[in-house]
Amino acid sequence: MPVQSVIVTGAAGGIGSATVRALVARGAQVFAVDLDRRVNDLPEELGARVVAHIADVTDDEAVELMVAAAVERFGRLDGLHNNAGILGEAAAIDSFPVDMFDRVLATNLRSVLLVTKHAVPHLRRAGRGAILNTASTGALVGAPGMTAYIAAKHAVLGLTRAFALELADDGIAVNALCPGPTDTRMMSAFFESNSLDPVSTAKAMTPMGRMALPEEIGATAAWLLLEAPVFLTGTPVVVDGGQTAT
Ligand code: NAI
Repeated sequence: MPVQSVIVTGAAGGIGSATVRALVARGAQVFAVDLDRRVNDLPEELGARVVAHIADVTDDEAVELMVAAAVERFGRLDGLHNNAGILGEAAAIDSFPVDMFDRVLATNLRSVLLVTKHAVPHLRRAGRGAILNTASTGALVGAPGMTAYIAAKHAVLGLTRAFALELADDGIAVNALCPGPTDTRMMSAFFESNSLDPVSTAKAMTPMGRMALPEEIGATAAWLLLEAPVFLTGTPVVVDGGQTAT
C-alpha cells in the first residue's frame, strides 16, 4: 500500500500540530499548511515526511496553488484535514462588529469550501479518501456572545453533511471533528482576553473537569483520516469530556 498523503491546515496550531505528529507516527506523509511561520518547525522536528507550506486558506488562488504543490510533492492525496480556525471576540448582538463576523466566517467556513473544492479531484483519483473538518462542540450548542464562531461551526457541520452525501459514491468519507475546550493558544488567548482563570474555568466547562489535551484530539483526527471505516461518514465526532452529554 502506498504511503498515505494528507493535507492539514492550521498545522502550526495546537490541534493541527498534534494531528500532524499523530499522522506521521502512523506512517503518513503530511503537507502542513498555516499562515503562521511556526509551521516551519514541524519538518525540523519530524523530518522529511512533513512539508511545511505558508498559505492563507481564505484565498482561493493561494489554496489552488497549495493543493497543486502538495500533489506535486507527494504524487497523490488521500486525506484532508480542514482545521484552520479563529475564535473571534465575544460581542453583544446589538453591537456585533460585521467585519469580525465576515472574518470568522471566512476563516472557519469559506476555507473549508475552498480547500475541499481543490482537493476533491485528487482524492477521487486515489480511489478512496477521508475529509475531516474541525468543527467544535460549538457546532452543536450555542454560546452567548460567540455569534460568528457558533454560526460558522454549525455551518461547517452542515457543509460536512452535504459533502458526505455528494462524495459517498466516490468512497470518500467526510466527517466533522467536534472537540470541546482544548488546551491550545486559542483557548489561552480567550481566557486572557476575558480575564478568566484557566484552571477553574476549564474545570467548570466539562464533566471531566479539564480541557482536552491537543494530543487527544490529534489522535482522534489521525484515526478518522487514516484508519476509520469509510462507512463512518457525514457525522459529528464529539471529543468533549462529556460536555454535551449533560
Ligand atoms: P490554534 O490557534 O492553536 O490553531 C489555529 C491555527 O489556524 C493557527 O496556527 C493559525 O495561524 C491558523 N490559521 C488561522 N487563520 C488561518 C488562515 N486564514 N490560513 C491559514 N491558517 C490559519 O487553535 P486550535 O485550538 O488548534 O484550533 C484548531 C481548530 O480547532 C480551529 O478550527 C478551532 O476553531 C477548533 N476548535 C478548537 C477548540 C479549542 O478549545 N482549542 C475547541 C473546538 C474546536
